[in-house]
Amino acid sequence: MQTVWAMLICLAGGQLASATLCKTYGTIPGIPGSPGQPGSNGKDGENGLKGEQGPPGRVEHEGDRGEKGDPGLPGHPGKVGPRGAPGSRGLPGPMGPRGPQGDSGDYKTTLKSAFSAARSISFYPRREVPIRFDRIITNEKGHYENRYGRFTCQVPGIYYFTYHVTSRGNLCLNVKKGRGGSRGDKVVTFCDYVHSSYQVTTGGVVLKMAENESVWLEPTEKNSLVGIEGSDSIFTGFLIFPDV
Ligand SMILES: *[C@@H]1O[C@H](CO)[C@@H](O)[C@H](O)[C@H]1NC(C)=O
Repeated sequence: MQTVWAMLICLAGGQLASATLCKTYGTIPGIPGSPGQPGSNGKDGENGLKGEQGPPGRVEHEGDRGEKGDPGLPGHPGKVGPRGAPGSRGLPGPMGPRGPQGDSGDYKTTLKSAFSAARSISFYPRREVPIRFDRIITNEKGHYENRYGRFTCQVPGIYYFTYHVTSRGNLCLNVKKGRGGSRGDKVVTFCDYVHSSYQVTTGGVVLKMAENESVWLEPTEKNSLVGIEGSDSIFTGFLIFPDV
């Protein structure tokens, strides 16, 4: 009965009462309280250690693989390689056709040489350049070359050279002698001074010629030589005596 009393007193009294009165009469366990609110989340833990490498992947089905692609375009050509060694010498070619009949061995036919050629080019010849008398009138044995306007000796001996040319003004001509493509040496010079009318002028010389020596005509700066229809200009030469 006493215990129950104490309990009742404690319930009825305030805090102060229970502190004094309930002490005297012992304690009775209270009713448990309701659970508190959940706490806030803790911090993230540290990263774990790196795992071991897995096995290589595999294509699940062969059918998943695509078709093989087309080949790519060809690349650019490479640089030209070094020149190769020359090939071996070829076989000799076939024999050429038979040549024309040679000159007769007769002394009289062999030692011949004579030519006359006219100029059919209408413009004045250039100074200090052989005059081309391009149109051949006579060229016995072919010792005159109309391409160059020069006679080249094949039969050594004494020759006579002459020209008869039409001029329309001042004209000075050198007779020149030389070898091959040389400038040659002046042998004689003839000059004619006229004004505005046509005139035929002439000159000539006898020369001793050796084999392969040439003779031609060259104008100086006075070069009014014409070669037109009806007013011809010709260059002539012939052998007088062959060397013995
Ligand atoms: C003349 O020229 C020809 C051909 O170039 C040559 O064979 C010959 O030896 C020459 N003769 C003289 C004497 O220079």
